[in-house]
Order: sequence, then C-alpha cells, then structure tokens
Amino acid sequence: MSSNALYAQSGGVTAVINATACGIIEAARQNGETIDTVYAGKNGIIGVLREQLYNLNLLSDEDVANIKHTPGGAFGSCRFKLKDLESQRKEYERLIEVFKAHNIRYFFYNGGGDSSDTAYKVSQIGEKMGFPVQCIGVPKTIDNDLPITDNCPGFGSVAKYIAVSTIEASLDVKSMAESSTKVFVLEVMGRHAGWIAAAAGVGKQQDSDPPHIILFPEVAFDHEKFMGKVRYSVENYGYCTIVVSEGVQNKEGEFLADAGTTDAFGHKQLGGVAPLIANMIKSELGYKYHWAVSDYLQRSARHIASLTDVEQAYAVGKAAVELAVAGKNAVMPVIVRESNNPYKWSIGTAELKDMANVEKMMPEDYIGEDGMSITEACREYVQPLIAGESYPPYKDGLPCYVSPELTLEKQKLEPFDVK
Ligand code: F6P
Repeated sequence: MSSNALYAQSGGVTAVINATACGIIEAARQNGETIDTVYAGKNGIIGVLREQLYNLNLLSDEDVANIKHTPGGAFGSCRFKLKDLESQRKEYERLIEVFKAHNIRYFFYNGGGDSSDTAYKVSQIGEKMGFPVQCIGVPKTIDNDLPITDNCPGFGSVAKYIAVSTIEASLDVKSMAESSTKVFVLEVMGRHAGWIAAAAGVGKQQDSDPPHIILFPEVAFDHEKFMGKVRYSVENYGYCTIVVSEGVQNKEGEFLADAGTTDAFGHKQLGGVAPLIANMIKSELGYKYHWAVSDYLQRSARHIASLTDVEQAYAVGKAAVELAVAGKNAVMPVIVRESNNPYKWSIGTAELKDMANVEKMMPEDYIGEDGMSITEACREYVQPLIAGESYPPYKDGLPCYVSPELTLEKQKLEPFDVK
C-alpha cells in the first residue's frame, strides 16, 4: 500500500538546493507504487506545523526539471528551531498529527546540522506516538560544515563563485594599483568554519597571485601580523587582495563584526567585517581600498554553479528516496570521496544521530603555516568540487529561472500557532 511523502527545505538556501528537490520528486515519481503524493512544507517546517502543504504531484515534469537550474528555495525555507523535545513536545506532536492527517510516512528534511537533529527527533517521536515515519535527512549547506559527508551540496557552487570572483576582482585592482586602489577586501560567508574563505585560494599558483591573505574563523586575528602582510604584499606585488570570512574572531574569541541580532538557533547575525578591515588598513597604512560583501550573491549564483555540485545535489535527493523505499529510517545519504585523481565520488549512508549538531571545521593541515593561506592538501580537496559548468538555459540575455505555480493541499486540522 502506498503512502505519502513530505519534503521540507531548512536553513540558508543554496544555488543547488532545488536540484536536490528535483532529485527527490523525480525519484518519488519513479517509485509511485511506494510513494503516492509528494508534499512540500511552505517555507519549510513552519508550513508543516501550520499544515500548509504544497501538493507537488500537481507540478508538471517540465516544472520539476526547470526548478533544477533555479536558485533559492522553490518552496521556501526557514530558520526555525523546534522547542525542546523533552520539555515541550507540543510541536513534535503537531508534526505527527499533520503527518497522520495526510498519511505521510516519509519525511525528507533538506538542511544542515540543526535539521538533522530535528529529523532524528521526529523519527523517534513518530514511533512513540504509534505513527512511525521514516525520516531521511538530506545534506545541504554552503558552510560545508556537516560531519561524515566529504562535502555538502551547495558548497561547491559558492566555492566556485568565490574562487572566480577573487581572480576577477584582483585583475581589476592590479590594473589600478599604481595610481589608485591598492587593497581589495572580499567578505565571504561561513559562520564558524572557513571552508568558503579557503575556496578563494584554489586558483593561486605562486606567492604573487591573489588572494594574498585569507582570514579564517579558525585562526584568531593577529593584528600586527596581518598589517605586516598587507604592507609586504603592496610593496612587493603592487596590491593586496584579502578574503575574509564573516566569522573571523579576535584572540578573545569574539567576532570582529557581528550585526547584533541572533536567529532562532541563537546564531549571531554576522556581516560587515570587510569595511572594518578596510578602514583599519586605511587608517594605519594609508592605502586606498575597495571592499565587497558577497553575501547572498555567493549563495544564489546559479549562473556559475559547479557541475559537480549540481550532480551531487541531485544525487543526494534521489538517494534519499531510494533509502526510504528500502525501508531505512533516521539516516542521511552522504557524499563519499573515492579518489582525488581522477576525482571519483559515490553516495554512502550515515546515521542522523551522528550528523546532528556537529560542525566540521577546516583541518589544521588545510591552513598554511602563516595562518592566512591554504595548503596544497586543501587545494586538492576543493578543486574537484568546483569543477565543471552547469549553465542554466538563457533567454534574452537572462537565465530562465522559474517559480512554478504551487497549490496548497486542503487543511484537515485545527489551526496551530507557530511562535
Ligand atoms: O547557510 C549558512 C549561512 O549561509 C551562513 O554562512 C551565514 O552566516 C548565514 O547562513 C546567513 O543566514 P541568514 O540568511 O539566515 O541571515
């Protein structure tokens, strides 16, 4: 007897999260004898609690294929932390009620570490409430900080955008440096882990190549050493390109720049470290600067997505359905690196409880001895992840991104207050 499935996107979106959605929907359609209707939570888990479920069976095959090359979250995502399961079960119980009302026996939760924790808890409580639900986490985060999986879908495309932008902007600065701008500072995302900042260095072949300095969250900011390196770079190469992670911290472990607000998970909102650093340089060394915060541009740059990333994002979606159909519960498909040269990967399986709430930082041997560069080992790790192009179709000079019309399923339960 077939039952229904629910898909929800969670946390910060990526350029390829919809490729995962496409993988899930297409694989579910191929397994129609097991999975009948696929629903998606409107804006993620918030929509599930409110019983706002999009019926994805109403999407045409063409719509589904088109979301594969569209960035952002096709069904909406959210930053929302379910209350503690032990003390306040209400939200978890509501989820199971919604699942029951719509005969949802498969739950695909597409997110990072926090979402793995939620999916794991849902898998436990369903069983206890007499309505078992197979919960499959599906990896996604540009921060690349999930454990076990070799890399996270979403990272390869951000890495490519940052690597390319670093090279391009540096060519600009280099042309102007004799009489004008000498320093360019690029701020990139990555709250606690420096994977995205590291990606900026993937194209560097010799010391004079940009970026001349990378500031990681894993390495405490050393003012003197930093200024010395900026001066050295300008004096020897004519200019200095700096890539700084938004999460860079001082020796006391405080973020150099936090915007003063926190999200539902208690994460500080970061941003603004680039102008801070640029001003420091201007006032101490007097160099003219430009700075940029790549912000959502890096996370949404589907036009320059990595083919490897698109393929892996699709593959984890497809594998998630296959795991569900095979009867698995509380697991996540992960990416396994088989070899570097040639780059080969496959899909493995991890337990959700091992994925939850663990952040994978850059290993020490990926950070250069000066604490402001990457090693060859890091370059070898990142390089295949940015490989290949997967351009969206274009019309009149613009990518053909889609927002298919979505239909909400009729509600069957009383309204639920989401706080
Ligand atoms: O998805 C992770 C992340 O991109 C972090 O690198 C960044 O700090 C954060 O999300 C920004 O999140 P939001 O869009 O919720 O402000």
